[in-house]
Amino acid sequence: MVSARIKKFLTILILLIIHLITHVRSFETPFQVPLSELQTGPKKVGIIGAGAGGSSAAYFLANSFRNTSIPVSITVYEKESVVGGRTNSIIFERNNTKYVVEMGASIFVEINYHLINASKKFGLELISFTDGYPEAKTAVWDGTQFVFEETSNTFWDIVKLFWKYGWTPIKIQRIIKAIIDRFLKGYDLTEPFYNIDSELERLHLVLEKQYTGQYYFSELKNINQLYLQHLVEPMTRVNYAQNLGEIHAMGTFISLAPQVNKIVCVRGGNHQIFENFIKHSEADLKLSTKVSNVTKIINDEGNIKYEIVTKDGSVDTFDAVILAAPIQFTEIRFINVNVQMKEIPYIKLHVTLIAGRLNPEYFGRNSSDEVPQAILTTNSGKTDFLSLAARVKLENGEILYKIFSQHSMSDELLDRIFTDRSSIYRKVWNSYPRLLPNQEFPRVELDDNFFYVNSYEPLISTMETECVSSNNIVKMLSQRWINVEKVKAEL
Ligand SMILES: Cc1cc2nc3c(=O)[nH]c(=O)nc-3n(C[C@H](O)[C@H](O)[C@H](O)COP(=O)(O)OP(=O)(O)OC[C@H]3O[C@@H](n4cnc5c(N)ncnc54)[C@H](O)[C@@H]3O)c2cc1C
Ligand SMILES: *[C@@H]1O[C@H](CO)[C@@H](O)[C@H](O)[C@H]1NC(C)=O
Ligand SMILES: *[C@@H]1O[C@H](CO)[C@@H](O)[C@H](O)[C@H]1NC(C)=O
Ligand SMILES: *[C@@H]1O[C@H](CO)[C@@H](O)[C@H](O)[C@H]1NC(C)=O
Ligand SMILES: *[C@@H]1O[C@H](CO)[C@@H](O)[C@H](O)[C@H]1NC(C)=O
Ligand SMILES: *[C@@H]1O[C@H](CO)[C@@H](O)[C@H](O)[C@H]1NC(C)=O
Repeated sequence: MVSARIKKFLTILILLIIHLITHVRSFETPFQVPLSELQTGPKKVGIIGAGAGGSSAAYFLANSFRNTSIPVSITVYEKESVVGGRTNSIIFERNNTKYVVEMGASIFVEINYHLINASKKFGLELISFTDGYPEAKTAVWDGTQFVFEETSNTFWDIVKLFWKYGWTPIKIQRIIKAIIDRFLKGYDLTEPFYNIDSELERLHLVLEKQYTGQYYFSELKNINQLYLQHLVEPMTRVNYAQNLGEIHAMGTFISLAPQVNKIVCVRGGNHQIFENFIKHSEADLKLSTKVSNVTKIINDEGNIKYEIVTKDGSVDTFDAVILAAPIQFTEIRFINVNVQMKEIPYIKLHVTLIAGRLNPEYFGRNSSDEVPQAILTTNSGKTDFLSLAARVKLENGEILYKIFSQHSMSDELLDRIFTDRSSIYRKVWNSYPRLLPNQEFPRVELDDNFFYVNSYEPLISTMETECVSSNNIVKMLSQRWINVEKVKAEL
């Protein structure tokens, strides 16, 4: 009898001590470690979406827990039959020659370290973006004439630029480089960020998300208006389908980054980076598997779990969930999960691929060799598309063009732009958020151990920055779980 009482007393005492220790410890960390987290055994993480964000999350997660005492098992759900999401290519075949053409994200730059390092590690070959059609000259079309046109003589192009816009091109390059330097500080991530705004403060990039590109460059930086119209706005239109009076300055800088950095892409398609992320993470990849329900469950011991139900009826339970797709397009029913946020509007973008020959008359030219092959547009309200560029010269002399537009390119319109065309391929995307100034960013951790990679997208929507966002989330999780493991080891 007595020994049973002492046992009970000791048990309570030990529990009390454990509670005190963990309670005091939790003040040293930026998050609370509930006693209920102190459970042994492996951790399970469910990732929804296998685009840039989800695939890199799997890779970073596997890497950061690899040599710890916590085994992490990862399941990646992807509703499509392929990995990549908005990084998606098609194979265009003509006379037994195959051409890989990106229908979504096509380019990145040499300072995109996650993508560059991964490409090297996986042995993927990086090629210059213009390799498919190196002789294409860039020009800016306003619907009636070309307001800027590159020639084959770089020297004269520079003289012409100087004549027209003075020192502006040099001034603006300096500004872009300074902002990129600030952005690159984001790679030194000692502490994960829980909201995008605090990260922007750390990087001194608050003004850049606060003002439109138009206000920022003309009012704050005193940049020549004609230069903005002719050489800056066409870049925000081709990259983000937005005009300078709408897009924030950060989106403008991202659109201009290719002007100061080498542009690259992966031979055979950028999606190979993401396939390799998944492969090297050894995650359980479930393709053609759409998640339909996510339910938060709190069990008797107070442990939080998430149950994922798929459309085909499979059910699994996880310690954490990483949502890596724009939430409003997932069609997932969230039960008991706090996913409240202000909806981020996305842009509908039409991508049209055409094999054919341009009609010089449409562009006010006398012969087809006088028509530039990489055409950007101004915000004149008179252009039929956002951009039109030659991507590949086919063996039969036809050229494969890619057109971005906000509306579907009708056959009647294509008949005016092309003298002849033999092939057409169309794709419509919910392409990227409208990069509006002062948008309210979604929280990174929407609910306990439920994370949202695409919270970063209304700031910058690129393949690289989705990796930056997933890396931040993995940092949170490893800090949380590895620290808990340390506390337990000390007990
Ligand atoms: C035409 C176009 C051009 C672009 N150009 C560039 C560029 O040149 N460079 C660049 O860096 N970026 C570019 N972008 C932007 C870039 O594509 C995106 O920022 C990035 O790819 C987003 O990656 P993500 O993983 O966050 O989302 P996504 O790629 O959208 O991935 C989300 C994934 O989740 C899946 N999914 C959704 N719902 C469910 C569900 N219920 N269950 C299971 N799976 C689900 C989807 O099928 C998808 O595969 C471009 C985008 C478009 C559309
Ligand atoms: C994990 O351990 C293996 C073998 O001990 C080693 O080769 C590898 O570099 C380690 N990985 C990390 C991420 O520390
Ligand atoms: C990329 O590789 C370089 C060189 O090895 C390294 O210094 C850097 O930290 C890496 N960056 C990322 C984001 O992986
Ligand atoms: C998904 O959630 C809805 C709403 O709670 C429920 O009616 C439905 O049965 C759930 N589906 C599955 C497969 O669990
Ligand atoms: C096109 O041809 C017309 C008349 O044939 C001529 O006046 C004009 O200068 C030519 N334009 C160009 C750009 O060569
Ligand atoms: C390519 O194939 C088409 C028929 O599909 C044929 O008419 C054409 O001559 C071929 N061109 C070349 C260059 O072989």
